Amino acid sequence: MTQTLTLRRPDDWHLHLRDGAMLQAVLPETTRHFARAIIMPNLVPPVVTSADAAAYRARILAALPPGADFTPLMTLYMTEQTDSADVVAAHASGLIAAVKLYPAGATTNSASGVRDMARVQPVFDAMAEAGVPLCVHGEVTDPDIDIFDREAVFIDRVLDPIRRRTPGLRVVMEHITTADACAYVRESDGTLGATITTHHLMINRNHILVGGIKPHYYCLPVAKRESHRTALVELATSGFPYVFLGTDSAPHTQANKESACGCAGVFSAPVTMACLAQVFDEANALDRLEAFASLNGPTFYRMPPNDATITLERGAPLDIPASLETGEGPVVLFDPGRPVNWHVTKA
Ligand code: NCD
Ligand code: ZN
Repeated sequence: MTQTLTLRRPDDWHLHLRDGAMLQAVLPETTRHFARAIIMPNLVPPVVTSADAAAYRARILAALPPGADFTPLMTLYMTEQTDSADVVAAHASGLIAAVKLYPAGATTNSASGVRDMARVQPVFDAMAEAGVPLCVHGEVTDPDIDIFDREAVFIDRVLDPIRRRTPGLRVVMEHITTADACAYVRESDGTLGATITTHHLMINRNHILVGGIKPHYYCLPVAKRESHRTALVELATSGFPYVFLGTDSAPHTQANKESACGCAGVFSAPVTMACLAQVFDEANALDRLEAFASLNGPTFYRMPPNDATITLERGAPLDIPASLETGEGPVVLFDPGRPVNWHVTKA
């Protein structure tokens, strides 16, 4: 039985760092284990232009803990006013790694997202031409579509048409939660990738709703039924090359989560690597964790994998602290509610 596991240092291909006091508090939780992360642009106001991204990047670098070796991979928040030339120049200069598409109203701070995809087609075309990846929050927002169906409907109504209209556009379907999305990405010709979060590999919708509502398991896209979770675990642990880790670690204060209208988001950065080792161990796939967490993402984004390593050990159940103190109030950590027998020993 494997007791220790050494991997190339992982990257997080979907992360929310926020700003100000929250950024200061949560950034070390990522830099402890991860070398790079795709930084989500859904601040208030969002990171829309290359100037916004440069300023946000500088704030992140200023908040790094001493000695941290971490590269934030910046993204721009696509709006109907996004300027193709700004996107292409920002990517060519290395300032941004991708552009993020939020359908308007899909999730936290997405009010300025795109309503009419036809209006941003020239930007998609320019991105395809210049090789700029598009990160997609894949849920429709139509009020008549049930929240549990929003991802599957998005594939048919929005994502597949964008990809057909824009040959060569490299798209990451982020935080997939359904067997439908797993099947769709399995047909990838290499231009489509997908990220999966730690929590969607560990919880289903019963965890949110049975025995009392658990706001700390609520995120978007919302966790689906068990058969979907199983499909996600099968895909993540399969070694399939176009699927990789995006934690979607999304801190909100305890007060904002435990509310009559609680925010969507799960804060998983501190425990993600231990939890993933548990999931891959249970699937007899520890030898594939490195592909998922450290190799497939860099290949898709056309970056080299990290040379440094991280080591995990199997042992006594991980003691997960209830919350992280931030200048804005405590943030509750993701706890899968069952033993995690792995922990990071060297990073
Ligand atoms: C994210 C957030 O809080 O910013 N929330 C979430 O539930 N995942 C937004 C997002 O990625 O959808
Ligand atoms: Zn997110």
